[in-house]
Parts: sequence; structure tokens; C-alpha cells
Amino acid sequence: MRILYAEDNEEIREILTLRFKSLTKGEVITCDNGQEAIGVLEGGVNVDLIVSDHFMDGGTGLDLYLFVKRMKLDIPFILMTGAEDIHELGFGDFLEDNPLNKLIPKPPKMPLLKEAILSVMSSSEEEPDGLPQSENGHVPIRLKILYRADFAPTDIYIKIRDGHFVKIYNSEDELSEEDIAKYERKNIETMYIKEEELNKFLEPYMIILMKVFAEEVEQEPNRIYEKQLEAQEIIHSQLKSSGLTEEAMELAKSLVENNMKMGEQSPKIGTLIKQMMGKADFLYEHSLMTAYISGLILSDLTWDSQDTQFKIYLASMFHDMSLDGSSAMKDMELNGIISGKHSDNDIERFLNHPLESSNFIHEFREIPPDTNVIIAQHHELPEGKGFPKKLLSARTFPLSRVFIVSHFLVDYIYKEGFNIVTVKKCLTHMKQIFHEPTYEKILISVLKIFKLEFSGKKE
Ligand SMILES: [Fe+2]
Ligand SMILES: [Fe+2]
Repeated sequence: MRILYAEDNEEIREILTLRFKSLTKGEVITCDNGQEAIGVLEGGVNVDLIVSDHFMDGGTGLDLYLFVKRMKLDIPFILMTGAEDIHELGFGDFLEDNPLNKLIPKPPKMPLLKEAILSVMSSSEEEPDGLPQSENGHVPIRLKILYRADFAPTDIYIKIRDGHFVKIYNSEDELSEEDIAKYERKNIETMYIKEEELNKFLEPYMIILMKVFAEEVEQEPNRIYEKQLEAQEIIHSQLKSSGLTEEAMELAKSLVENNMKMGEQSPKIGTLIKQMMGKADFLYEHSLMTAYISGLILSDLTWDSQDTQFKIYLASMFHDMSLDGSSAMKDMELNGIISGKHSDNDIERFLNHPLESSNFIHEFREIPPDTNVIIAQHHELPEGKGFPKKLLSARTFPLSRVFIVSHFLVDYIYKEGFNIVTVKKCLTHMKQIFHEPTYEKILISVLKIFKLEFSGKKE
């Protein structure tokens, strides 16, 4: 199997190339842009699959695709792009042109990408074409991406001469910046790992890949939300399987910064909410929307700081992580408990989730203090009407109150839809529920946020 892969971001290209190699055991020819890839095809190289980004300087994915069509090449094409509407871009009947063509939204969900590639592999009856991927059982890794990880995921080797490799790092050794400088001075650009350890090596890189995508945000501000959503899913699954890695924490930090930046840039909140709604699972989506609205409220309050923003963001991200995603749990999270509708067992599990999520998070010392308190209190309401502790407002933590209000607002928008009428209705409703002095400033901030959007013009 030989893949032709065009992507202009070097780090994404390097990491995904390794991923493709690990999936296919075949050869990957990489290109910086569409034009270069066209050059490869014009040179008569046979490839079994093309994977391409769309937006690239010096030849887009569309240029490449149109070339393939024009030359009537029967090569499946996986288009990986953040673009919303590829029809608008000129891809025509892309998905019908070849049954194996696939559109993979960027940042790519790994299972989708894997499935697309495996279906191409299983459809080809011919003998697999392509060079063996390794040199004497060793796979090359670019220095640049190697040092994105803090610790060596596997043993690492350098090549001293053809076919001869020497181990320079043991698995889990620290990879420092000084070392990278040292090897760069020696003009070493590539190190090696054992072929059979490729999957293990790639484990931390799925998180690192998300970080690279997060860094690309400035170029594509409208994709920020999708990236956050994807990153959140990855962090959750990592957290549940292998605990909180340093990479996951760093990714979370870069997401908070993005979140704050997004708040500074353009609180055209109506547009953002509309962009966010209905794209993914309710549990993930309402968490991110709560993070965003909490951040906006917070930036209007005197105790706003990087620190408090970080805490409330993490709390948003993890507050419902002990819910299992079943429809009963989602329903209670959104609509509340309705006895008769939900089983006693489900209700009990639901009532426990704030403390369960909170306890889970509390174990990680990297998570700043108070985050778990916000999580434990996220369903408390004034006058002791919430759960699990039926706390009076004065006994809740101030940051929890910001969270509770945002969460309430987000759920309301999900139930009633987002337009000027429902938001006004929601605000009226909130004034009754959160009438106590401890909530006054928070509600004023909420009004301010929405006035920005609603005063003078109609949505
Ligand atoms: Fe929630
Ligand atoms: Fe919840």
C-alpha cells in the first residue's frame, strides 16, 4: 500500500504519516502542497490512496483533486479539511465520484480516519504495493516532533551507519530542549524507534496533535469550537484510561487561553452559540458552552484572573464526566429529574454524579484546588433547592455560582432554542430563581453579555 499525503503543517504531517504507517505497514509519500503531489503523480508513481488537506499555499487539495479527475485516475481520495461546505469549494460530487472517497473533518477523529484507510486497503485485490516502511526494523522519527513529547514514549535510537542503530534514550527518559539543540548542532534530524513499538510511540502524540491544531487556531478562528470539542473528548478518554498526562494538562491550558482569546475578540455571542449548537454530543457541547459563558461572565467580575478562568474552564470540562452518556442521564442533566419517568436506580446515580465527578478530579494534583468544589456544587440552587447537598447560596463557593448560572442558561437555551424571545424569557426566569444578593453581580454580567448582542439590532 502506498499513500500520497499532502499537508502543509509539518508537525501534523509527520505525526499522521506515522499513524498511516502504523495502520498500513506501507509507504507514505509526503508533500507540502497540492502542486507537489500533482508532480508525484505526473512522475508516474503509482499510489493506492491520496490523503490531502484542502487549504495549502502552493496548490490546494482541490487542485490535486481536479487533477485526479481530469486524468481519470482511479485513486480513492480522503479529503481532510476544516471547511464546512466542500461543494461550495468546488469539489462537486466528491463523495459520489468514487465510493471510497471520504471527507474527514479536521481535526480528524482517529477512528474515522482509520476506518476510511482500512476500507481502501480491504478493497484492493492486488498485491500490496510500496516499500517496506522500516530500515532493518527501525522507523524514522523527525527530531522536531520527537521533542514535542516530554518523555520518550519508547526506546529511541540513532543510526550510526546503514543498518546499525544505537539506543540513546530509554522509554520514559526525559526529552529536554538542551538535547534537541545538541543533536541539531550535530545535524541529526532523524531518530529511530523499533517498528513494533510504533503504536506505543504514537500514544502521547494524539494529544500532541490536538495541541498543534489548537495552535493553528489563529489562522482559522471559526474552527476553534470544533477543535475544543475534539480535544475535550480526547482528554476525557485519556483521563479515564491512563490518568492525567502532562500533555493533556498542557492541552487543557492552551484551550483555556483560546477560550479567553475568543472572549476578548468578539463576544458576538448569538453567532457563537448558533455555531456551537447541535454539532456533537449534548454532554460535551453543553460543557464547552458553559465554559465559554462562564468565562465571559467572569471577565466582567472583579475577581477575574487567569487562575480563576482556568479553574472554571476545567470545571466545565469535567463537571459531568461521571455521567455515562446514556439517554436517561442526558435527559436528567438537561430537563431535571422527573419521577415516574426515570428509574430509581438511574435517579440515584444521577444524584451522585456531582460528587463522583468531583472526587475523580480531586485525585489529580495537577488540577488546581477549588475546581473540584465547583464540580461538586454544579447542581446546587438558591434556597437549598438544588442537589446533592441542598446548600444555601451563602454556603456555595463564588466561582460555583458563576458556573451554576452559566449552566442554567445553557440548559435553558438547549431546551427552548436560541433566539431573542427565549433568552429574554430565560433572563426573567433567572431573576426569580437567582434573586439573592450573592447572585446579583453575576446576573448583571449576564445581562451585559446579551445586551451586546441584542440592543438595537435583531438577531
Ligand atoms: Fe452539566
Ligand atoms: Fe451535571
